[in-house]
Amino acid sequence: MAAKRIYLNAFEMACVGHQAPGLWRHPDDRAWRYKDLSYWTDLARLLERGRFDAIFLADVLGVYDVYEGSPDAALREATQVPMLDPVPLVSAMAGVTERLGFGVTVSLTYEQPYALARRLSTLDHLTDGRVAWNVVTSYLESAARNLGFDTQRAHDDRYDVGDEFMDVCYQLWEYSWDDDAVVRDPERGLFTDPAKVRPIGHHGRYYDVPGLFLAEPSPQRTPVIFQAGASPRGRSFAARHGEAIFINAVDRAATRRLVDDIRARIAGEGRDPESVRIFILLTAIAAETDAQARAKEEEYRSYASLDGALALYGGWSGLDLSGHDPDTPLAYIDTDAARSALEIFTRADPTRTWTPREVARYLTIGGIGPVVAGSPATVADELEAWVDETGIDGFNLAYVVAPGTFADFVELVVPELQRRGRVPAGYGPGRTLRENLVGTPTPHVRDDHPAARHRDRRRALAGEAVPSRA
Ligand SMILES: Cc1cc2nc3c(=O)[nH]c(=O)nc-3n(C[C@H](O)[C@H](O)[C@H](O)COP(=O)(O)O)c2cc1C
Repeated sequence: MAAKRIYLNAFEMACVGHQAPGLWRHPDDRAWRYKDLSYWTDLARLLERGRFDAIFLADVLGVYDVYEGSPDAALREATQVPMLDPVPLVSAMAGVTERLGFGVTVSLTYEQPYALARRLSTLDHLTDGRVAWNVVTSYLESAARNLGFDTQRAHDDRYDVGDEFMDVCYQLWEYSWDDDAVVRDPERGLFTDPAKVRPIGHHGRYYDVPGLFLAEPSPQRTPVIFQAGASPRGRSFAARHGEAIFINAVDRAATRRLVDDIRARIAGEGRDPESVRIFILLTAIAAETDAQARAKEEEYRSYASLDGALALYGGWSGLDLSGHDPDTPLAYIDTDAARSALEIFTRADPTRTWTPREVARYLTIGGIGPVVAGSPATVADELEAWVDETGIDGFNLAYVVAPGTFADFVELVVPELQRRGRVPAGYGPGRTLRENLVGTPTPHVRDDHPAARHRDRRRALAGEAVPSRA
């Protein structure tokens, strides 16, 4: 059997020390240049040269102020603050690349579907079909308070709102405009044929969107949908909408169980479970030899900030570990933050417990994901083992120092993965991200994706045949 392909995304955020609290102190780190356009355009070129599938941009809309009940540790340690908006970075990176994809995180909790759908269509036009939306529902109280709420909406309710939000977007992207609505015919004085554009007439529980979409159809129409909900409700949301799903992994056995659960949920939604790409967060520290890589990791660890890690973890889990004995194992409780961030250290592996001190040390490099340090062969062996033993499809690779960690990976590990037949030598014939990542024959969503229902409605209006649904 041919070796399973490995998909590669770079995991970034418009801030410093994204998954490596404290590493902004390291002399090789250039992440502080995140405010410069050239930081992003150089990075995009590097990743495309290294045959990465996409750059994945995380985002949050609040500060990490749970730890010690204050934003001070996050500010001192640059724990995802200061931070900029990732959306505008995409068009600059698209301008200097041809095939690299762009996964951009936008929280639907603080958006209106009508406006966000247009922003994403804009990106899909400007990138010529290379954009993915990482749909998140947010987990920070500090974001809710500054964005028109007294407190966050309850955890599971956020996903109910999300289901309707997605449905409105799908109608705008797939139903409102026909492919040939724009005729641009000077003779007839007709730019857009009004007969080929229609209002969606959506009146739901959370949203009323009666009108027609403002944007004409973009190459992919619906951008590739990424999702990273990890609680049971989050997973069912991901299984319904995600074409790529991003999960946290600590050990392989637990990840295998999680992947099996997610694929079963995808099948339960009437979708082909193998059509969805599952990614884990992982940090690879590569050098010519194992010894050099281990020395590099040790040196990196000397810059790590435990306070920064605990600030990060406070935001993710909703738990202030400053009040918790550092050496007493954590127990699971429900919070309104990202439940998975807590679950992974309490329930994922029934054979081990984690104390706050261990969690902080674990998180200082690579966040919740595993860290692999070694020669190109060692790193490639580890990546292959993760893919083959857990059923995942690829990695969102975090950096320790930017862009150095990515540059090392491109120079050392990608050629090794290509030699092993795991990463293709070049990009495939399809120009869009969906064709490359999901493997669809066209730039558009598969027939089994929920967005396709609204495409069918549009086609039916035009008298076209539509696939029957089971
Ligand atoms: C690997 C991973 C990456 C995530 N990235 C982001 C992000 O960039 N921004 C964000 O607001 N939420 C992010 N999330 C949070 C989830 O999308 C989700 O909102 C959160 O985990 C709470 O839902 P849950 O309890 O279902 O996991 C991420 C979650 C995971 C597991």
